[in-house]
Amino acid sequence: MSHADDHEGTRRDFLYYATGGAAAVTAGAAVWPLVNQMNPSADVRALSSIRVDIADVAVGSQITVKWLGKPVFIRRRTAEEIEQARADNTADNLIDAFARNDNRDAALSADDQNRAMDETGEWLVMMGVCTHLGCVPLGDGAGEFGGWYCPCHGSHYDTSGRIRKGPAPENLPVPVAEFVDETTIKLG
Ligand code: FES
Repeated sequence: MSHADDHEGTRRDFLYYATGGAAAVTAGAAVWPLVNQMNPSADVRALSSIRVDIADVAVGSQITVKWLGKPVFIRRRTAEEIEQARADNTADNLIDAFARNDNRDAALSADDQNRAMDETGEWLVMMGVCTHLGCVPLGDGAGEFGGWYCPCHGSHYDTSGRIRKGPAPENLPVPVAEFVDETTIKLG
């Protein structure tokens, strides 16, 4: 092998590693635009309480609103989703035993009735933030339990937003929310 070939080989190795390094950085950064684009402008962030019109949300669908700089899922569940969520109250793979992250001392059980907006269970309001590292989970029946799925590291949430499988340690957080009339939910 001539000296020139030697040099060429070294250079190719260098290019290979440099390209590999750049690819790794790009993959790591890909999570951030997802989270960052949910950040509202400063004026929106200033609102500690917002009202959401839910009149147009059909059964079996959800909307995502931004509140305090974070996405909030408001889902109008089907009868099947509610039934599944309540049947799963006694599932043996519930990872987080608490219903609400903001009220863990009160030790409300993770029963669906403690997470939904009212007794009918039709409306479920949760922060759209994976409790592992903060990605925004996919909804509309995603994941192995028919609820939400976070593709970042594979966390599966059920139809009540409870973590059932994967690295996330807690259920999707339920924020302070209430109905101010039949078609308006107030967050905060
Ligand atoms: S951020 Fe959701 S699984 Fe890691």
